Amino acid sequence: MSLNTLVLGLQWGDEGKGKIVDALSEEIHAVCRFQGGHNAGHTIKVNGQQTVLHLCPSGALHPKVQCVIGNGVVLSLEALEKELKGLEELGVTFENRMHISNACSLILPSHIGIDKVRDKKESIGTTGRGIGPAYEDKVARRAIRFGDMGNQELLKEKVTTLVSYHNKILQNLYEADTFNIDDILAELDSYKYLYDNYSSDVQETVYQWNQQGKSILFEGAQGSLLDIDHGTYPYVTSSNTTAGGVSTGIGVGPKFIDKIVGISKAYATRVGEGPFLTELFDDNAKMLAERGHEFGATTGRPRRCGWLDLVALKKAVFLNSVTDLCLTKLDVLDSFESIEVCISYDSNGNPIFKSFPGWMSKTEGINTFEALPDRAKSYIQFIESFIECPASIISTGPSREQTIYLS
Ligand code: GDP
Ligand code: IMO
Ligand code: MG
Repeated sequence: MSLNTLVLGLQWGDEGKGKIVDALSEEIHAVCRFQGGHNAGHTIKVNGQQTVLHLCPSGALHPKVQCVIGNGVVLSLEALEKELKGLEELGVTFENRMHISNACSLILPSHIGIDKVRDKKESIGTTGRGIGPAYEDKVARRAIRFGDMGNQELLKEKVTTLVSYHNKILQNLYEADTFNIDDILAELDSYKYLYDNYSSDVQETVYQWNQQGKSILFEGAQGSLLDIDHGTYPYVTSSNTTAGGVSTGIGVGPKFIDKIVGISKAYATRVGEGPFLTELFDDNAKMLAERGHEFGATTGRPRRCGWLDLVALKKAVFLNSVTDLCLTKLDVLDSFESIEVCISYDSNGNPIFKSFPGWMSKTEGINTFEALPDRAKSYIQFIESFIECPASIISTGPSREQTIYLS
């Protein structure tokens, strides 16, 4: 029987979605990205080799897994080409297993130009990948879609109109460099083979797989607190990162999903600007950053670190109808004498913490719950009971096999 699973981040991204999606992809027919773009950086470690994916679904390293990029994704063809070439050098091929929705909005170089100059003023701390401006054009109904690559006349007309508009913004609002329309058209022409090889009616493809009883996995990017509607606005990304994004970003109803795996680190990180109530600035912050190698997988920026906020996590569980909690990076806490978690806020909105004695022993690589130290078990059990959601996966290291499955 088919089992459709959604895997998404419950914090500000970088929870370990790549690792978990890869680990769950063994028995899966297809893995689908449904929102975001190459602002994502999803790390996978197999046989000691680390791969970072930005656009390709994290099931890609399993040769039989079908890879889908749904209409909800904003697509940079430059980033896609680079990623596919890099993977091909590692022996990963995509013939007959990459399906990219014709309805994806394209990210053009001028979107990246606008994102970068605008962020200098607005200071969101974006990844500078053109994500926000590309979604703006989608919603304003002037975007270039992947399917437009099949009609050269129409493409030329649409690109000319859109880039002229971008140039006006760049010139008049930001006094910044403009983009040459012919250069952009020539660049797009060089990516025509991507359209010829991979363009697809994704909604229909997924429908057919479902008819055949195949199991499908949906891979979220970013995290719930970066959701355009439910996150820490305006310090958010420009898509719906929460569960509803699957329905609109692929074309399946909410009941299509059987299992919703929400991922949280055993602590918290954030990259970019915006509120982070449990953020630390002391030696504990340094220790989390060092032990957890907390540097952005896309931009290399240091991630801000702090304790786990259970009030926010419980909300994210509700927001996404999470059925299964996945707790990652437990091993990063191995050498902390005490571990704090936020259990409420005071009247000024400051976090109130509960303290746990640290287990001070190695959990790295442990792959059964029984083998965990008692104090680590108590920490996990407290989280489960606070957020009223069972943990079914615990991650104790970056590699596939460093994983505990509880059910
Ligand atoms: P994603 O964006 O959610 O896929 O997460 P990233 O790949 O950006 O960041 C997660 C980082 O933590 C990567 O470097 C992973 O290799 C690493 N990682 C994932 N799970 C674990 C874990 O359980 N323990 C440790 N130590 N590292 C992990
Ligand atoms: P994954 O999928 C962490 C953050 C940026 C910035 C904000 C807006 O790897 O978890 P954007 O470029 O999207 O307009 O930036 O969102 N951000 C992420 N933070 N992980 C990500 O992706 C992120 N994608 C965007 O740092 O604060
Ligand atoms: Mg990441």
